[in-house]
Amino acid sequence: MFHLTEEQLAVKEAARQFAQTELKPGVIERDSKMEYPYEQVRKMGELGFLGMMIPPEYGGGGMDTLSYVLAMEEISKVDNSCSVIMSVNNSLVCWGILEYGSEEQKQKYLPKLATGEWIGSFCLSEPEAGSDATSQQTTAVDMGDYYLLNGTKNWITNGGSSSLHLVMAQTYPEKGHRGINTLLVETSWPGVTIGAKEDKLGIRSSDTHTIMYNDVKVPKENRIGDDGFGFKFAMKTLNGGRIGIASQALGIAAGAYELAVEYSKSRQSFGKPISQHQAIAFKLADMATEIEAARLLVYRAAALKDLNLDYSQAAAMAKLFASEVAMRHTVEAVQIHGGYGFVKEYHVERLMRDAKITQIYEGTSEVQRIVISRNVLNGDLYVPIPTPAMQE
Ligand code: CAA
Repeated sequence: MFHLTEEQLAVKEAARQFAQTELKPGVIERDSKMEYPYEQVRKMGELGFLGMMIPPEYGGGGMDTLSYVLAMEEISKVDNSCSVIMSVNNSLVCWGILEYGSEEQKQKYLPKLATGEWIGSFCLSEPEAGSDATSQQTTAVDMGDYYLLNGTKNWITNGGSSSLHLVMAQTYPEKGHRGINTLLVETSWPGVTIGAKEDKLGIRSSDTHTIMYNDVKVPKENRIGDDGFGFKFAMKTLNGGRIGIASQALGIAAGAYELAVEYSKSRQSFGKPISQHQAIAFKLADMATEIEAARLLVYRAAALKDLNLDYSQAAAMAKLFASEVAMRHTVEAVQIHGGYGFVKEYHVERLMRDAKITQIYEGTSEVQRIVISRNVLNGDLYVPIPTPAMQE
């Protein structure tokens, strides 16, 4: 059972208010014009949505993961360009530095990132290394007191707007994934080039770019963790990232469901509201059931993380299931809206387009199945949430 505290409910309500009043007006136009939401991101920073899990001494909100997923769900019901910017900045960038960065790195970068003065990017994917993330071609050659960084990264969220990149690069090719390092790279440094912006199916007002690094000198003190820890860092950080994207998928499904319920009660056909026809009512029943199941998986993964227990499998399950629910039920929400669902004004077609990326980024559904099946075959059949007695 998840009993949300008053604080958690207040965070959820604040995010809902923000999404409905500040994000909803203009979301269709921003999506259509691929317009980056500068003003909205600035407000998210002011309201504390960009560094939610970062302690106050580093400029963040000091909240738990459950509060973060509650806020993500509400924002994702409305604007998934804003929620992916929020998710990458919170889960991959801020949390990664907080958990694995040095004290100097935390003091230097977290206050800027947690308040939204800077936005961060997580640069793992390459033209030839997507799901097969160990095949990094980008190199970080050890030059003594700095690394010389060269390579190309693809599909980088916040690529055009970020000031700091977390870049995975190969230092010792003979060691495979144990030779990879993660470097903190400021985008103002010489040799960083922001490439073309992608014209995407969904999350169109977020900026996704190719990035090129050409002889970028990265000081040694900007490496995260020990020499060769970079791939492990990426995987461990992505476990938390997957909770963020699972909550985004949950928000997309729940947003489409809320629109479908509202529409079906007002739209009349054959002499009554369409919600009174079983063909529609049964669809709504299936949506409600699967969305609630997805919500429980997302909350469970967040709760395991907050309890400092292993959550890699729980995060993969939450992302796998929530993203498939989002895809399935946004298609149904469009169907319930009929012809109106196919036009932009009614919002559901955008949610349907946005749903697709949740099955692809931060590990495709197939990658989540790899993570889950390996855990299952290793004997981790079920990770229970500890009872209070077990926690003592
Ligand atoms: N948690 C912790 N450690 C993990 C892990 C996880 N989920 N998955 C793998 N590892 C560790 C393994 O334990 C192993 O460590 P050891 O060498 O110490 O044993 C190491 O990482 C290598 O793992 P594997 O041997 O399992 O490697 P693999 O090549 O067989 O496959 C994979 C690994 C799971 C497929 C992995 O490559 C993967 O997750 N790929 C997907 C990458 C991804 O999610 N990319 C998203 C890009 S970021 C993004 O989308 C951000 C954005 O902008 C929105």
